[in-house]
Amino acid sequence: MSERPTMTTTAGAPISDNQNALTAGPRGGVMLQDYQLIEKLAHQNRERIPERVVHAKGWGAYGTLTITGNISRYTRAKALQPGAQTPMLARFSTVAGELGAADHERDVRGFALKFYTEEGNWDLVGNNTPVFFVRDPYKFPDFIHTQKRHPKTNLRSATAMWDFWSLSPESLHQTTILFSDRGLPIDPMHMNGYGSHTYSFWNDAGERFWVKFHFKTRQGHRHYTNAEAETIVGRTREGYQEALFGEIERGAFPQWTLQVQIMPEADADRTPYDPFDLTKVWPHADYPPIEIGVMELNRNAENYFAEIEQAAFSPSNIVPGIGHSPDKMLQARVFSYADAHRYRLGTHYEALPVNAPRCPVHHYHKDGQMNFFGQRTGNVDAYYEPNSVAGSAAELPSAKEPPLKISGDMDRYDHRIGNDDYSQPRALFNLFDAGQKARLFSNIAAAMAGVPGEIVERQLAHYKLVHPDYEAGVRAALKAAHGYQADTISAAAQ
Ligand code: NDP
Ligand code: HEM
Repeated sequence: MSERPTMTTTAGAPISDNQNALTAGPRGGVMLQDYQLIEKLAHQNRERIPERVVHAKGWGAYGTLTITGNISRYTRAKALQPGAQTPMLARFSTVAGELGAADHERDVRGFALKFYTEEGNWDLVGNNTPVFFVRDPYKFPDFIHTQKRHPKTNLRSATAMWDFWSLSPESLHQTTILFSDRGLPIDPMHMNGYGSHTYSFWNDAGERFWVKFHFKTRQGHRHYTNAEAETIVGRTREGYQEALFGEIERGAFPQWTLQVQIMPEADADRTPYDPFDLTKVWPHADYPPIEIGVMELNRNAENYFAEIEQAAFSPSNIVPGIGHSPDKMLQARVFSYADAHRYRLGTHYEALPVNAPRCPVHHYHKDGQMNFFGQRTGNVDAYYEPNSVAGSAAELPSAKEPPLKISGDMDRYDHRIGNDDYSQPRALFNLFDAGQKARLFSNIAAAMAGVPGEIVERQLAHYKLVHPDYEAGVRAALKAAHGYQADTISAAAQ
């Protein structure tokens, strides 16, 4: 028998008995000085941390990003130079469900990536869709409230969802994807990932380019219908974890091709759509995808909680050569994630092994709960900056991002004026074959069960502006599913 290590207290002293409480006589009571029992119960009480306010249910793995193309004229980022290989972590998730939600629910999937580059961590926190439901960050908390539970019933409310969506036509593009086949992938391997926002690249000459990132699955797209998913969920609520963990464990490493779309900086003033609007894609015909590399997932975490639950991804994590853009949603996210991490994980969340950069880290933040690393300024006498202390960390002026051109008067601009919310959903609708359209209609009808007629009609009016067939198809599916007639309350709502 192999030698077993001695069980100890967290302070390192040996534990003689982990079976029997310390009692006054064989029948009890328990003695207060059984401090190990108290420790054990106290630790158990602290095993849970707040789940993510969105994207709580997730599945992750480690891997590598390998660059095969050459985009050095656009970006100086070392991780994107030809031949570069960068270790990385991926976490996939559903948006609305809680930590214990079933994996096979129709929902957008999170596609969060952390690249441990030699210039610091670069996080690309995207989804499996190239667009989003809203374009102004003021609307994100409201949108999420409609996806979560009703305050009184504690149930999810289809009425709230469709009320919000029908009053927010910018959501049409994303909801068309959500209720299409791609809204219910069979597992994380069979879906694309998109950075979604417009980011920027900048090169050594200080030139800026706008960029979108796409990770195209090499496993092919595979989806379940609602009916198939119901059967799966009846069998297992953890199908994604089983599939991702299982495939990697048996050495079948999933891969995604990394593509970028590049837009010259000045083009942003010329496109017929706002290239920073998160509800829009850049048509491939205008900005063809350029293949630049491959991402492979090839290692499971040893401890799910430590490495996947405690993973902290943030769009604020960029590296020299990669920048943000004027996208309003992106700027809100640049604030929101680190704030969420400080609440969910604690002040020094970036010192946790899964979040820690794999390059030297030097900063002047001081102290704080759970600071186990002391000072990171390079010299203990340098705990302020500027200083004249030898060996203390100093700025690197060459890492300065080139100026970002902005213009205009400060105001609250109505984001629903002057935006075409219908053309791009139409382009997508036109891509669908008859079967895909039929499933789109019936998925929407199923999701509208119980929604009042006035809200249904408001949404149907939007579908009509996308394409008359879209409206007619959903109307017919509503009739078939719920006996819905125009201007009536749907049967399921009675
Ligand atoms: P293209 O025909 O050049 O590109 C179509 C894109 O749509 C491809 O990336 C394809 O992804 C994707 N696609 C195909 N079928 C579906 C589907 N059932 N659900 C979601 N996406 C699908 O056309 P455009 O670039 O002009 O875009 C037309 C429409 O395609 C857009 O309005 C948008 O809705 C959608 N789209 C566009 C993307 C873009 O970046 N331009 C990205 C994703 C979707 P794949 O190659 O993986 O099959
Ligand atoms: C998670 C906020 C839009 C993708 C989160 C979290 C917050 C948040 C607070 C939880 C973070 C944590 O606790 O670790 C916001 C805000 C948004 C927004 C304020 C808009 C203003 C988006 C968009 C995308 C996205 C547009 C995709 C393009 C994700 C993903 C996660 C996440 C993938 C999970 C990350 C992980 O796996 O840990 N978001 N979000 N979010 N968000 Fe957003």
